[in-house]
Amino acid sequence: MTASIGVGLIGTGYMGKCHALAWNGVKAVFGDCARPRLVHLAEMTQDLAERRAAEFGFEKATGDWRELVADPDVDVVSVTTPNAFHADMAIAALEAGKHVWCEKPMAVALADSERMAAAARASGQVAVLGYNYIQSPLMRQIEALLREGAIGSVNHVRLEMDEDFMADPEALFYWKSEASSGYGALDDFGVHPLSLLQTLFGPVTKVFANLSKPYPDRPTVEGTRRPVETFDIASVLFEIGEGISGVMALNRSAWGRKGRIALQIFGSAGTIVFDQERFNELQVYSAADRQSLQGFRTILAGPQHPPYDRFIPAPGHGLGFNDLKIIECHELLRRIAGEDARVIDFEKGLEIERAVHAMAQSHREQRWISV
Ligand SMILES: NC(=O)c1ccc[n+]([C@@H]2O[C@H](COP(=O)([O-])OP(=O)(O)OC[C@H]3O[C@@H](n4cnc5c(N)ncnc54)[C@H](O)[C@@H]3O)[C@@H](O)[C@H]2O)c1
Repeated sequence: MTASIGVGLIGTGYMGKCHALAWNGVKAVFGDCARPRLVHLAEMTQDLAERRAAEFGFEKATGDWRELVADPDVDVVSVTTPNAFHADMAIAALEAGKHVWCEKPMAVALADSERMAAAARASGQVAVLGYNYIQSPLMRQIEALLREGAIGSVNHVRLEMDEDFMADPEALFYWKSEASSGYGALDDFGVHPLSLLQTLFGPVTKVFANLSKPYPDRPTVEGTRRPVETFDIASVLFEIGEGISGVMALNRSAWGRKGRIALQIFGSAGTIVFDQERFNELQVYSAADRQSLQGFRTILAGPQHPPYDRFIPAPGHGLGFNDLKIIECHELLRRIAGEDARVIDFEKGLEIERAVHAMAQSHREQRWISV
């Protein structure tokens, strides 16, 4: 596919490690690309950068991300820092002639997302976002089922995204509770279900949203309490595609939910049910089945659902979260090579951001907003 590409990685937390695993694994899994060169890694301090570079297999380390962006050996930059840094880092990388793989959401302010999309357009470089959930083999299967009309014409979509990492009212205040990180569940979380909706049905056209805070304040490391500035819960009504109505419920403080992105798609001839917590399973109900056998059938992911086959030849053994990032990395390399690729680039990402900001506006003004 591509000639060997030099990788720069900014940030080495949850997503930074995930990107590092993807860059390390993509050649072994897919075989059809040159092995990426892990060139330069940036962290908050030189010391941390050096430790992580040794662990992840990067040649150079820096405590100043601008040094990485200026490195002529770097062709593509992974931006895996908190949301507030995405715009500056992605734009600087694009202006330096690098491709960019930036974590979601694009940015906190819509104006910054617009600047990012403009920088990508002006640079002619590839700029894609970390919307890993669109990559799962069974999500591709859902898309194929919808295309072939397996459940007739879709009339309603229901989506829930719940996790419980903010559920403990006594959990320490950190950047995700600061207004500088965004609205909360809406942009931190909602963008993932929106990436699925966009992939399956196109952009959301109309929204009505309500945002709420389960806890008004949280303890700080200094032993004081600080008001929570973001909304950990969001409830949204929306319209999408040709007359499809939808409901989206988001909650970062939902005890017991660990990685739920539950999708129900209702059509005139059946229903599709999927949950990211069990993303190696898909449930399909067909009204065309013999009445005595009607019920949801469960389909397990296997090599017949590409690109599962690139990881494991045996069905039912299951892929993991990090594998989605390897698939995403491969799609990015395909896009860089000028091939068809399943990615959400900055242009499509901007549509998601517009939907998110329309939802926030709807909450403020308590009315329907056209996106
Ligand atoms: N795609 C997904 O499924 C997914 C999941 C979780 C988070 N995310 C996104 O990934 C991004 C990072 O989230 P995370 O959970 O990995 O956060 P994290 O706190 O685990 O990691 C952030 C890292 O960035 C580093 N960093 C911060 N400022 C920096 C700077 N100026 N220079 C260099 N390094 C810097 C921090 O030291 C840390 O290592 C966020 O935008 C988040 O929304 C995406």
